[in-house]
Amino acid sequence: MCGIVGYIGSRPAADIVVSGLKKLEYRGYDSAGLAVLDPAAPSIGLFRAVGKIAELDKAIASHPPASTCTVGIGHTRWATHGAPTVANAHPHLSMDGRIAVVHNGIIENYLALRSRLESKGYVFKSETDTEVLAHLIQDCLDGGLAESVMRALVHVEGTYGIAVVSSDFPGVLVAARKGSPIVIGDCRGEAIVASDVSAIIQHTDKVVFLDDGDVAVLTPEGAELRTLGNSTVSRSSTVVDWDPGAIEKGGFEHFMLKEIFEQPEAIANTIRGRLLLDDGTCKLSGLQLDPQKMAEITNIVVTACGTSYYAGLVGSYAFEQFAGIPARIEQAAEFRYRNPIIAPNTALVSISQSGETADTLAAVREAKRKGALTLSICNVVGSTIAREAGRGVYLHAGPEIGVASTKAFICQVAVLDMMAIMLGRTRRMSNSEGTTMVAAMLRLPEIVKRVLEQNDAIRAIAEKYHQARDFFYIGRGYMFPAALEGALKLKEISYIHAEGYHAAELKHGPIALLDEHVPVVACVPQIPGHRKTLGNVQECRARRAPVIAIATEGDPDIGGLANDVISIPECPEFIAPIPVVVAEQLFAYHMANLRGEPIDQPRNLAKSVTVE
Ligand code: G6P
Repeated sequence: MCGIVGYIGSRPAADIVVSGLKKLEYRGYDSAGLAVLDPAAPSIGLFRAVGKIAELDKAIASHPPASTCTVGIGHTRWATHGAPTVANAHPHLSMDGRIAVVHNGIIENYLALRSRLESKGYVFKSETDTEVLAHLIQDCLDGGLAESVMRALVHVEGTYGIAVVSSDFPGVLVAARKGSPIVIGDCRGEAIVASDVSAIIQHTDKVVFLDDGDVAVLTPEGAELRTLGNSTVSRSSTVVDWDPGAIEKGGFEHFMLKEIFEQPEAIANTIRGRLLLDDGTCKLSGLQLDPQKMAEITNIVVTACGTSYYAGLVGSYAFEQFAGIPARIEQAAEFRYRNPIIAPNTALVSISQSGETADTLAAVREAKRKGALTLSICNVVGSTIAREAGRGVYLHAGPEIGVASTKAFICQVAVLDMMAIMLGRTRRMSNSEGTTMVAAMLRLPEIVKRVLEQNDAIRAIAEKYHQARDFFYIGRGYMFPAALEGALKLKEISYIHAEGYHAAELKHGPIALLDEHVPVVACVPQIPGHRKTLGNVQECRARRAPVIAIATEGDPDIGGLANDVISIPECPEFIAPIPVVVAEQLFAYHMANLRGEPIDQPRNLAKSVTVE
């Protein structure tokens, strides 16, 4: 979704801001813009373009700003209010042209603010909610820029992460946050701000995350934090252990393919030091749960969005099966508004790669309000959900740039499995059961590697099917979430219509759609339910649907039944979604690539959905 970068220092701001915006491209956007100013001769230079940052580069190259422009803010916009046009692209200027604003989030009372400002004579040039901020700050101008921004924000309802510069105050850049992330790089002799650490880590690995209600006043000397009420606050800095090289493609054609191939290492990092073979259990210190606290948990509610939701579905099965704790999963977008019943001693497990998804964050807050013990599973260290939940587990999967989530899913499943083992061992699970499960998990990097070795074979299968218009994915038990995730991967990057269905549910309607033009991907490894799913595969074949089976190596029955087979190593059911989904990721990738789709930035999608 939208991205923000701001810079103030002694170097040319345009280069730094635009190169930061390029690091945020993965979030998904449809227009981009930059505002710069020269502290010695302050007037705002504005550049905006529809489409990719390359278009913004062209707009800048046609009137390059002077190298003395050492203050700048930039933005990548994912359209919410108003189409992706130059007029709607950020930065937005105040009516006098002396204030420039970039904004992530949604100003919910913007219509009321707009009509109030219009009645005072302000003229709007865009359809965005953001433009009200620029005029509102002008309207509230009194004293310094920071104080004026604070005064304006008092009138704003909704969510924002903003960066503001003004030609009247060329020595300062103001940023503020409420509900939309803002992070400051802890640099010397300059200051950098962004909505995402990816735009900062090439400058410094020390960052400060703003809390809601914080205002950052950036000058070439560094950053000072205040509250909206203008009192000074301090926030501790976090060291981000991402290698800046990790956000480059490293020779792969796409970030998605790179991240698929990183999975053996990513999962090794997720499980490292956390699997205790001799004790047949797991250690997840960030959960801060001693055996007594674990024993107190009588219910688990899992919540998440998108791919993380499907990982959560696997987790909800594992919690019931291995820990014996009643567990249910809820879409985070439903959770807050459904007014769910949270029984005493409920643990809410929220899952989010980015740690910034608006609906998941809202679910965490709602669950906290209702007295749940909130536990998070996030990839981004210091992200809002991780901080809000208070207790949690980081994936350590490294940055995930491809919009279609890959390595985060398998690492989330691994963490959920580890939680299930850990909780199970404080209840019914014996040492020998725990040891068997832990031993299986230790094989995961190798299991994933074996699936990746079939990359060429999977591409050859994709060559046969890439013209298809519709697909079904089927599975049961632990393969049901795998079917849902496989269908999601295919539709989000190849734009082929794909539906994930429980294998048995197919005959309650969708089977009517099957014929020789509608392939079915059957997730059918040798785990409980395997025989029954084979029966469902027969039903598909009887309707002439071509079947691609994802099956256990050496399965004697599958060859005669499926048109094409992708093999996964033998493994127990609780980890089987991992290799199956890796196979699905490669299949979706090659399908999309053969169709020439822009895999890392699929149309209409965003990496981190920070609006409801
Ligand atoms: C977006 C992304 C998905 C992701 C979902 C949840 O829709 O495109 O890949 O699964 O958000 O994101 P989260 O960061 O909360 O896991």
